[in-house]
Amino acid sequence: MSDPNIRNRKIEHIRIVVEKDVGFPNECSEIYDEIRLIHRAFPGIDLSDVDLSTRFLNYELSAPLMISGMTGGDPVTTKYNKKLAVLAEEFRIAIGVGSERSLIIHRDENEIIRSYKVVREIAKDVPVIGNIGANTLLDLRNEDISYIISSIDADALAIHLNPAQEAIQPEGDTRFNAKILERIEEILDHIGVPIIIKEVGNGLSYEDVSLFYSMGVRFFDIAGACGTNWILVEKYRQKDKITTTIADHLSSWGVPTPIAIIEARAAAPDSFIIASGGVYDGLRAIKNIVLGADLNGVARPLIREIYLRGLNAGKAFLETMIKEMKIVSFLIGAKSISELKKKPFILSSDMLSYLEQRGIDLREYKEIRGGTE
Ligand SMILES: Cc1cc2nc3c(=O)[nH]c(=O)nc-3n(C[C@H](O)[C@H](O)[C@H](O)COP(=O)(O)O)c2cc1C
Repeated sequence: MSDPNIRNRKIEHIRIVVEKDVGFPNECSEIYDEIRLIHRAFPGIDLSDVDLSTRFLNYELSAPLMISGMTGGDPVTTKYNKKLAVLAEEFRIAIGVGSERSLIIHRDENEIIRSYKVVREIAKDVPVIGNIGANTLLDLRNEDISYIISSIDADALAIHLNPAQEAIQPEGDTRFNAKILERIEEILDHIGVPIIIKEVGNGLSYEDVSLFYSMGVRFFDIAGACGTNWILVEKYRQKDKITTTIADHLSSWGVPTPIAIIEARAAAPDSFIIASGGVYDGLRAIKNIVLGADLNGVARPLIREIYLRGLNAGKAFLETMIKEMKIVSFLIGAKSISELKKKPFILSSDMLSYLEQRGIDLREYKEIRGGTE
């Protein structure tokens, strides 16, 4: 396995997500506006009673939030991972690293190892999550997988599924066949930490979650189609005209984040569900929890803030997000995550029709949406 471009690719990805408009149409504003929470003129609690702390991978987080896996793999990325880790530690939220494939390719290069390791060195008291592509598993030995976990002392390993990105990427690896399931089955018991099955921004469906749930996976990051759009990111790197035309046609492809949350929870009621993909404000984050997610993940806004404006801008983003989450919880009269999961929500007739056609009964769904709470 050798891919000399992998380091440049990471840097190009960061530059493109920061500089270009690579979101889904309106970042799903219409869909999120259609999900209504019920305002309480008498919340029955004080704002200061709201405590959104939650447990994840045996750590106590201050809020149901994580910095989704983005980077590492080139010395240039060390400074970004450092800042992201400072934010995770300071705000007591979880953090992931980007794909660790580089660690295997450049095994003996200290600067590469450091670009990932710096996350654990700084984010000592929060969950740190490793990351690898599902198709890359076909090229890795079990020792390699143990190595990418131990080198950052990871609390879990995210295995990402990104067929849409790979199909448009110039050097894309489009192997997504059943051999990958065999590999995941082989490593599930072997690696000693939980596996998180994750998309990268086109969303997990009911079918995907059911499949991995039946194999024993209990953690999912649905990474829905409302935020960073990898079809468009790769379009900017693609020189082939036919593929760029296809990228334009597919620019809204995927399962939007709120729908993916419901599909995932319906398929895997007792699992831990992370919602990422366009979770760019506190109102969305709270809607996701009320709908059935356990945690929210944020990627692009944070890398953009620290890239363009520095660490303090990243802090301001998270401060705003967490404060907004608390205010929205207050306004619907919920002082904890478990109370949020019992609060009513209203869906539009379009969403109801979608769920009906997917065989998900909303009445039954509302009984199970709290997960293991
Ligand atoms: C610059 C950048 C690099 C990323 N690299 C990875 C990666 O290596 N592995 C992965 O699983 N997801 C990766 N992602 C996807 C994110 O983890 C997340 O699922 C997705 O971007 C949706 O969140 P967002 O809308 O907040 O950006 C990356 C995202 C960004 C913005």
